[in-house]
Amino acid sequence: MVEKLGFKSVSFAWLDVDEKELKGGKRAILRNISFSIGPREVFIIAGPSGSGKSTVLRLANRLLIPTGGTVFLDSLDTLELDVTQLRRRVGLVQQTPALFEGTVLDNIMFGPRLNRDETGAMSYEEEKRQVVECLGMAGLSGDFIERKTAELSEGEKQRVAIARVLANQPEVLLMDEPTASLDPSATLAIEKHVRHLTFEHGLSVLFVTHDVDQAKRIGDRGLLLVDGQKVDEGPLPKLFDSPSNDQTKAFVNGNL
Ligand SMILES: Nc1ncnc2c1ncn2[C@@H]1O[C@H](COP(=O)(O)OP(=O)(O)O)[C@@H](O)[C@H]1O
Ligand SMILES: [Mg+2]
Repeated sequence: MVEKLGFKSVSFAWLDVDEKELKGGKRAILRNISFSIGPREVFIIAGPSGSGKSTVLRLANRLLIPTGGTVFLDSLDTLELDVTQLRRRVGLVQQTPALFEGTVLDNIMFGPRLNRDETGAMSYEEEKRQVVECLGMAGLSGDFIERKTAELSEGEKQRVAIARVLANQPEVLLMDEPTASLDPSATLAIEKHVRHLTFEHGLSVLFVTHDVDQAKRIGDRGLLLVDGQKVDEGPLPKLFDSPSNDQTKAFVNGNL
């Protein structure tokens, strides 16, 4: 398989400080994780709360550095890439939309404007064209560009947050439970556009969810993470429809 993003034997430990003894020790969070995502794939990381899902995403764009193993982008060790470039190419969408006050356009153009400081500013018309395109990719109409972010619904905010990451023209999208606080119709709308991003725009998506049904709806393949270890991996929906692994069975039945 052609690899877009790869994890090879990746481990990660947080420094835990014992308040009483004022001593720090390492606590292993992820142990020996390997998997890779191909072009145009939606790869699911599923697992119960605290299993290390968000830690996997943070390692993918170097918000964290692995304590062991290597994260690859296009076969290159991500530690050897320029970190700003890496974070443009591997964009992160968080569970709660990170937007600032102001208009939708200002939020979406924030990254590209920083990027263009060297090359000169874009005209308003050029910016508008780019913002309308990014909004469309996230499932919102161009009518939103001058709306204030504070006045949007949660689902609209999350889509603006997605459009904002898309404005950096990423190749990989990391999505950390992006619909966990949304209602079912906003959730389905985002799922549909995530699929479009892979089919029509060639992105690869690493999608974290604790929701088995969501994983089955949008995942091509995925893995189950329990206590920082990969316990199962395979194509979806089969992985969760006919699990052979006991922990996967328990997860599907809500008993993990
Ligand atoms: N900054 C931190 N310092 C120490 N431990 C942390 C930190 N962030 C997360 N953890 C711990 O790492 C483990 C995995 O967390 P996380 O990756 O957020 O899990 P998930 O996203 O699956 O809920 C949890 O036990 C959590 O308490
Ligand atoms: Mg998390």
